Amino acid sequence: MILLAVDPHRPDPAALEQAARVLRDGGLVAFPTETVYGLGAHALDPAAVQRIYQAKGRPAYNPLIVHVADAAAARALAASWPEQAERLAAAFWPGPLTLVLPKHDSIPHSVTAGLPSVALRVPAHPVAHALLRAAGIPVAAPSANRSTAVSPTTARHVARSLGERVDVIVDGGPCPVGIESTVLSLAGPVPTLLRPGTISVDDLRPVIGDVALPSGATHATAARPSPGMLDRHYAPRATVRLVPGAERARVLADAAESVDGGNRVGALLLEDARDARIAPVVRMPDDPAGYAARLYAALHELDEAGCDLILIDPPPDAPAWSGVRDRLRRAATSP
Ligand code: TXA
Ligand code: MG
Repeated sequence: MILLAVDPHRPDPAALEQAARVLRDGGLVAFPTETVYGLGAHALDPAAVQRIYQAKGRPAYNPLIVHVADAAAARALAASWPEQAERLAAAFWPGPLTLVLPKHDSIPHSVTAGLPSVALRVPAHPVAHALLRAAGIPVAAPSANRSTAVSPTTARHVARSLGERVDVIVDGGPCPVGIESTVLSLAGPVPTLLRPGTISVDDLRPVIGDVALPSGATHATAARPSPGMLDRHYAPRATVRLVPGAERARVLADAAESVDGGNRVGALLLEDARDARIAPVVRMPDDPAGYAARLYAALHELDEAGCDLILIDPPPDAPAWSGVRDRLRRAATSP
């Protein structure tokens, strides 16, 4: 594996050309986007796409997002491009919004897991953008982690999770947004939110009118609108529990009883709360954008510290927190 460190704002064109060549030749390149690191491969090369599923241990039924440099390139990969797509692209691209549209014939079935639709995204990160321009091809890229694990927001997270399974890691520093893009389907009769992110329905509704929320069916065997909406996902090795401050002492007492003292308990808290039984404690930002940017790195840190149990203060119920709440809920679901 080759590690290429670049300036996040002014990446070295020679380094990006090296990574772009690997992509064009069918290799795997991990690169930073504004949300999380992606594991990229040539989206129109079925053998390259297959390598993504292998490297991640990703089930074949979970389709990939195709990344392109601009809206015109996205449009060329959709069989139809409704007015709503045009408006959303103008309002939010480049940025952390993924649009699901009827797929163009050029897209291999392995990219879409056999679905008639394709997920398209124009990332805003300067490194992702410059890499896509240099490559000149659509790049399929899921988050650059083993399937169901916590997504990577640094190059080190990628190296720890995928190591030699990837050909190149482009290190452009930490990802500023920190949780995955909002996924919105325009492939059905009404625009439907498939995965909440930092762009919320409150941001989308002024642009396209009403947005339907995801349905409840998320079990692995049930038909689901977005196959990535598994109940357990984005999960660290440790057990995660969402516990309000008032219940923390009781949960800690139970944890101490159920194991013979060997349990290591860490926490992500929204308040200063000192308790000798909890270490490490990560004090989380109390705004949704700051919280999202910190979340995955904090979970990685507590995993690396050897925590068996991670207690998390439930964040507020407001719409702006829906992306964060969704990831916490999935992280807290038992296997
Ligand atoms: O922010 C992001 O979106 C990151 C960065 C790397 O761009 N990518 C990412 O990819 O999160 P991944 O593979 O981890 O998540 C893709 C999500 C999954 O929930 C998948 O099921 C959904 O998009 N998806 C992909 N194609 C779809 C389709 N045709 N219909 C419905 N959902 C789809
Ligand atoms: Mg993922």
